[in-house]
Amino acid sequence: MTTIFIIGAAGNIGRRLSKTLADKGHAVRALYRKPEQEQTLRQAGAEPVSGNLTELDATTLAAYMKGSDVVVFTAGAGGKGGPEMTNAVDGEGLKTAVAAATQAGVSRFLLVSAFPEAGRGKTISDTFENYMRVKKEADVALAQSELDWVILRPGTLVDDSGTGLIQAGPAIPYGDIPRDDVAATLAEIIEQPDVSRVIIELTAGDVPVRQAVEKIAKR
Ligand SMILES: NC(=O)c1ccc[n+]([C@@H]2O[C@H](COP(=O)([O-])OP(=O)(O)OC[C@H]3O[C@@H](n4cnc5c(N)ncnc54)[C@H](OP(=O)(O)O)[C@@H]3O)[C@@H](O)[C@H]2O)c1
Repeated sequence: MTTIFIIGAAGNIGRRLSKTLADKGHAVRALYRKPEQEQTLRQAGAEPVSGNLTELDATTLAAYMKGSDVVVFTAGAGGKGGPEMTNAVDGEGLKTAVAAATQAGVSRFLLVSAFPEAGRGKTISDTFENYMRVKKEADVALAQSELDWVILRPGTLVDDSGTGLIQAGPAIPYGDIPRDDVAATLAEIIEQPDVSRVIIELTAGDVPVRQAVEKIAKR
């Protein structure tokens, strides 16, 4: 059994991941910030941990993480609160989480980032440009840490049911991916600790999740 601390656990990917991991018999500690989310997380089999990333310092967050085996960061401002909130959650929040994991001695750290091609060929807003800049800076901060990191860059997230079939690799063509399959891929990466210090691009595809992750682990 692995203990996983999920930041952004009440979000669309976080909720799916919390349930998937709990169903597999893992212990899930789920950071959330709205009181109404507590019960949902508990029902999913997770242990809810209340906290707002923009208000927590690294030492407090490290105390919450202590004893976990893996941290998953799937939080994001989602465009709410403008560029300032994106900077605070997706940017500074990630850096606080990296510092906290380092302090708590939790070496394995999975980050849900963004595919660099998102927005290519479209007219993009300043807000989106800032989002992409912050996501890349977060990748840089994690990749420069001493942690045993994995950066997952999904294509456009959709709410269609998962198929369990993906395309995953260090450089793949852009596409969509159901959130169910992002959660399934994260769970599989957690169960395959040989996947380490890699950036993985992810879209829908035709390879079963386990097989696709095994291929990355063997590289
Ligand atoms: N949309 C796309 O096509 C796309 C593509 C690639 C990558 N991504 C990235 O994928 C990640 C997850 O996506 P998703 O669909 O699961 O997003 P989501 O549903 O918006 O979930 C994000 C979670 O982060 C939490 N959060 C925001 N600010 C926080 C704070 N200050 N403290 C603690 N938690 C906070 C939110 O909490 P609340 O529930 O309280 O709001 C929410 O639960 C995001 O980082 C996003 O940037 C998105």
